[in-house]
Amino acid sequence: MTDLFDKISKNRGPLGMHAKESHGYFTFPKLEGEISNRMIFRGKEKLVWSLNNYLGLANHPEVRKIDGEASVHYGLGTPMGARMMSGETDRHTLLEQQLAAFEQKEDAILLNYGYQGMVSAIDCLVDRHDIIVYDSESHACIIDGVRLHMGKRFVYPHNDINNLVKQLERATKLAEETGGAILVITEGVFGMSGDQGKLKEIVALKSKFSFRLFVDDAHGFGTMGKTGAGTGEEQGVQDGVDIYFGTFAKSMALIGGFIASDAQIIEYFKYNMRSQIFAKSLPMPLVEGAIKRLELLKNQPQLKNNLWKIVNALQNGLKQAGFDIGKTQSPVTPVYLNGTIPEATKLIYDLRENYDIFCSMVVYPVVPKGIIMLRLIPTAVHTLEDVKYTIESFGKIKSKLLNGEYKAEKIVDVN
Ligand SMILES: Cc1ncc(COP(=O)(O)O)c(C=O)c1O
Repeated sequence: MTDLFDKISKNRGPLGMHAKESHGYFTFPKLEGEISNRMIFRGKEKLVWSLNNYLGLANHPEVRKIDGEASVHYGLGTPMGARMMSGETDRHTLLEQQLAAFEQKEDAILLNYGYQGMVSAIDCLVDRHDIIVYDSESHACIIDGVRLHMGKRFVYPHNDINNLVKQLERATKLAEETGGAILVITEGVFGMSGDQGKLKEIVALKSKFSFRLFVDDAHGFGTMGKTGAGTGEEQGVQDGVDIYFGTFAKSMALIGGFIASDAQIIEYFKYNMRSQIFAKSLPMPLVEGAIKRLELLKNQPQLKNNLWKIVNALQNGLKQAGFDIGKTQSPVTPVYLNGTIPEATKLIYDLRENYDIFCSMVVYPVVPKGIIMLRLIPTAVHTLEDVKYTIESFGKIKSKLLNGEYKAEKIVDVN
């Protein structure tokens, strides 16, 4: 028998084991100042490529104004209670109607958090007779939702449609025995690699199989499609996306999220989704803030145009300079290099301290051993000069990596 706290003190988890050396620098870094392309890190200005502020709305003057006014007017406490009990307002339902119309769905439900909402939505949709089929590179919130499922689940290798067909055949056979139904879950834009879920191909499979499709479009909402309605719109199959999820935490630069679907499904969520029934309603300043952001997202196409101008310049420039940016089809821009975790920390340290570039680093187990992924998130507030400088700097750090200048036994200790 062991004491739980003793056990934890000996095994701090795959990231926590490096906390002593990395806290405050590689993990939990503090970016200060106004949210923009340049922020302060440890007292010095850095060019920042790690915020999902895709449309630059975090600091838009109209957004800042409404955020402030709504907070003064309502306070952060309003409304009190869960929506079902006492937390319902006209503004919550108005925002839902606007989101539904934008997503070309009958209705929508607000979520307090994207992550929690996805977990709870999956839990709410299926019972033990149903079968979930999902993409292997799904975000943690999908994985955790699937973990709550009491019935069978089948995973298909990332975007492998032939394998998905096999899983659907298995699922169909099983569903015939259990009397259950099939739910397929994928992302619209995969947040690490930036490639899109093959929604068009998946929707086409509905002619052969009976299933409903749930799409987590956290990174696609506001960035993809002609109007910014997301990856379903981008691929011309929004009608075939039965349940559409978007978060406010990225393009909208806020907190919260929503699901849009058929009216009867949204009503079902409203009366059965545990994360919303047993939790306080989204505070009014967030609702007012979301209404303003959605208005800007819909009516100021220059925001998305600016974003894509930067995305195209960055991705084309990196490719021309010989970088491997994988299969991205969205603003998410991974840069793949070869090296160990200690090398990666030296490289990031050099990039931050000597080139004043702040971007995220992703290493094993998120990417295979020996791969260093630098993840760049372009936004509407970056400039073409930022892009040029970054590509030049990346060229220099790549040469250093290849010359062995970052060779190290241990990760850089920044404390
Ligand atoms: C694909 C995906 N789904 C869901 C979420 C969770 O969203 P939120 O930050 O609103 O909880 C994220 C955010 O990291 C995400 O990338």
